[in-house]
Amino acid sequence: PIPLLIDTDPGVDDALALLMAFNDTAHRVVGLSIVAGNVGLSHTVGNALKLCDVAGQEAVPVFPGCEGPLVHPCEDAADVHGADGFGDTGYVPSERKASTEHAALAILRLSHEHAGRLLLVALGPLTNLALALRLDPTLPQRVARLVVMGGAVTGHGNLTAAAEFNVGYDPEAAKVVFDAFDRIDLADWEATLAHGLHHDRVLEWLDADSPRARFYRDISRRTREWSADRRGEYWHSADALAMALALRPDGVVESVRRPLQVETEGRHARGSTVVDWRGPPGEGVDIMLRYDQAQFEALVQAALAAT
Ligand code: BDR
Ligand code: CA
Repeated sequence: PIPLLIDTDPGVDDALALLMAFNDTAHRVVGLSIVAGNVGLSHTVGNALKLCDVAGQEAVPVFPGCEGPLVHPCEDAADVHGADGFGDTGYVPSERKASTEHAALAILRLSHEHAGRLLLVALGPLTNLALALRLDPTLPQRVARLVVMGGAVTGHGNLTAAAEFNVGYDPEAAKVVFDAFDRIDLADWEATLAHGLHHDRVLEWLDADSPRARFYRDISRRTREWSADRRGEYWHSADALAMALALRPDGVVESVRRPLQVETEGRHARGSTVVDWRGPPGEGVDIMLRYDQAQFEALVQAALAAT
């Protein structure tokens, strides 16, 4: 199987993405490097450990990383994900401990152990990856593929009018990462909005007779209600879509390669991703525009039903 390292800030949609990864026999999750984002690091680490327990993945190491952005503090997304990042269900915490190795160091070590084969998927703010790159700028040479959930490529932000959360939370880190990798497969916020999951279908999937589905039904309840109030019939799971792109690139229906710059300054547009849509496509980031919706839904459903 392909070694898969996931940098993540769980987070309700991160959790769904992790279940998808655990369920894919063509990939083996070699670690979870954890970052602050949706909520603070102690919660994102605790959530990662708990999710591994629920999914019977206790062997997957969890590496705690950065506790906040590189430069400027940013508010978290507890209003969407709950104060604990998992919908405030009061779940019984895992008895396991996280690794004592820092996420940035674990990323570098695993990149050596799996040089040329490693699939790296970033589902949170890019702080850990930026730190790893500053420690060792040769990291991209050993990563076979980097998939990032982040950015708002046509300017429809969610953190602010202009900025998507993962990039907007730590723009300096995002800039380091986007500037360092020659190739990035991007699942951005607009793609997320274009691949909604109907609440009725999601409820059917959550009814599956499996511990994963039961746990996920609980931790996602709050954010599903939050989303139904604001965005209507469809639920949007950014990190799940990014994981579909990572696990099954053959599901991509349309993508385009375009130059992308991260705006680190500005009064209204800090954290935005400025894509140059002029001229013919060529250099830059591979922006996923459309993914096979049926394949995406099948991956989500199977991940929840797995026992
Ligand atoms: C991204 O921000 C976070 O809140 C989600 O987990 C996802 O990674 C969407 O903008
Ligand atoms: Ca996330």
